[in-house]
Amino acid sequence: MCGIIGIVGNEAVAPLLLDGLKRLEYRGYDSAGIATVFDGQLERRRAEGKLRNLEAVVADQPLSGTIGIGHTRWATHGRPTVNNAHPHATAKVSLVHNGIVENYKELKAELAGKGVVFETETDTEVVVQMISAYLDEGLAPKEAAFETLQRLEGAFALAIVFAGHGNLMIGARKGSPLAVGYGEEGMYLGSDALALAPLTNRLSYLEEGDWVVLSRDSVEIYEENGEAVERAVVQSAVSGAMIGKGQYRHFMQKEIFEQPAVIGDTLHTFYNPETGRITLPEFPFDLTSIPRITVIGCGSASLAGWTAKYWLEQEAAQLVEIDIASEFRYREAPMPEGGVSLFISQSGETSDTLAALHYAKSRGQKIVSVVNVPESAIARESDMVLPTLAGPEIGVASTKAFITQLTVLACLSLAIGRAKGVLTEEREAELSRALSEVPARVSEILNHDQAIRSIAVDVAEARDVLYLARGNMYPIALEGALKLKEISYIHAEGYAAGEMKHGPIALIDENVPIIACAPSGPLLEKTISNLQEAHARGGQVILISDAEGLAKAGDIARHAIEIPAIDPFVAPILYTIPIQLLAYHTAVLKGTDVDQPRNLAKSVTVE
Ligand code: G6P
Repeated sequence: MCGIIGIVGNEAVAPLLLDGLKRLEYRGYDSAGIATVFDGQLERRRAEGKLRNLEAVVADQPLSGTIGIGHTRWATHGRPTVNNAHPHATAKVSLVHNGIVENYKELKAELAGKGVVFETETDTEVVVQMISAYLDEGLAPKEAAFETLQRLEGAFALAIVFAGHGNLMIGARKGSPLAVGYGEEGMYLGSDALALAPLTNRLSYLEEGDWVVLSRDSVEIYEENGEAVERAVVQSAVSGAMIGKGQYRHFMQKEIFEQPAVIGDTLHTFYNPETGRITLPEFPFDLTSIPRITVIGCGSASLAGWTAKYWLEQEAAQLVEIDIASEFRYREAPMPEGGVSLFISQSGETSDTLAALHYAKSRGQKIVSVVNVPESAIARESDMVLPTLAGPEIGVASTKAFITQLTVLACLSLAIGRAKGVLTEEREAELSRALSEVPARVSEILNHDQAIRSIAVDVAEARDVLYLARGNMYPIALEGALKLKEISYIHAEGYAAGEMKHGPIALIDENVPIIACAPSGPLLEKTISNLQEAHARGGQVILISDAEGLAKAGDIARHAIEIPAIDPFVAPILYTIPIQLLAYHTAVLKGTDVDQPRNLAKSVTVE
């Protein structure tokens, strides 16, 4: 979702801003723009659509200046037109914004009452007009910004520059992430460490309500009330080199193929090969008497949580509730004393998940999070963080982040099962071993890439696709359907196989591929019966199973993908790989924008 970059430097800033925006593209956007201060004047260039359009505009009408701001916009209020694109500006001030100003109508009416004429359909314009109005009243830039910030409700990250001030930038953060970068050649603002990676790796993450005044060689941070404050400067591990595509055609493809390595990295933080046991860091509460774990996330992260519910119930006899963050945050759920809330998020910045975390905290819950970005708000506000070591994920559709979330959650389930004495030592050893073999098994499955591509040729023809599974594989059917619709734009639904008779069976005809994830285990026969029902109605079954499952299914499958035989406990992790590859190849065949699918954003920082 919207990306921000700000640079107060001493060399031509426009190319650096464009370069920074390229590193923010992955967040999802539909227009972009940059503004600089040169000779005391503000100038800006904006364009609809992809960054190449903005680059063309800048090539045609270059921008001078050594201080500037840039923005990729994911439209919320107002269509993605040039006029609504950021930076927004008056003659005196120009700014970029990520978030939503919730009281913008009220502020707009107030300013309109004073004669201000609005040019755009955006909520953001009230911020620029209000600062400008304060400047007109004679306030200095810092005071004008401070007064304006006090009036804003909602979520924002802002970067602001002023006409007549070639060495001043103001940034602010509330609800939307913003990092300050300290460099040798200047100071920077960025939505994330990636945006600033080639410029500096020395960062401060602003806290809620913080605002900051930057010059080429100074940074002053203030709290919401205007008190000066120090924020730690940390060394970011993210490097510019980490975000190349290497030999791959798409980031998503690269990230799918990185999975054996990142599962291994994540697992090695918890798995001790000498003892063969999973050991988690010490928890700040007793694992044996958690009355209920409430698991919350959005999108793929919430589906990783669904899988964890099966694992925690089956292997740890743990009471678990699961919900998506956008519903949970408003439903006023009662929460048990001593309960634990588990938040799952790649970015650690998803606004619904963060708001749900605040709700759980206010109900006295202990907060555990599974996050990929250790500096993120969700990580910082948790009592305990279980990191996924996926590295930067650039493809909008989650792959390696999802699989490492599953890896961490499987470890957590075993740790709680052991602490509670639900798992016998033997069973624990068996499951830990199965987990430790996952990276090698995933590599084997990746060898089916070309075979899966040929199956995708059929899927790409479909208008509707059904994914079916049972038990701990059911969330993987949901993830398969989500992945396919996200990147190929084909309508897909994931269903519990046993529920098919209660609705989706009506959709089935010879044009509907039915993708079944059915490992051998206690639910195999039941799933095969459901597939037979679909087959009998002309459904084209694509069966993902092991040798035993494929043999039992006989000739009902039009296509088969064979997965190594493994303990059903780890099956959700392994069966995720073919459904990712199937979605990926289908999207490539359809010619969609795989890494940046239309309308989607990587990190959803607005409600
Ligand atoms: C967006 C992304 C998904 C992701 C979800 C949750 O919808 O496109 O891939 O699963 O947000 O994001 P988070 O960063 O909280 O995991």
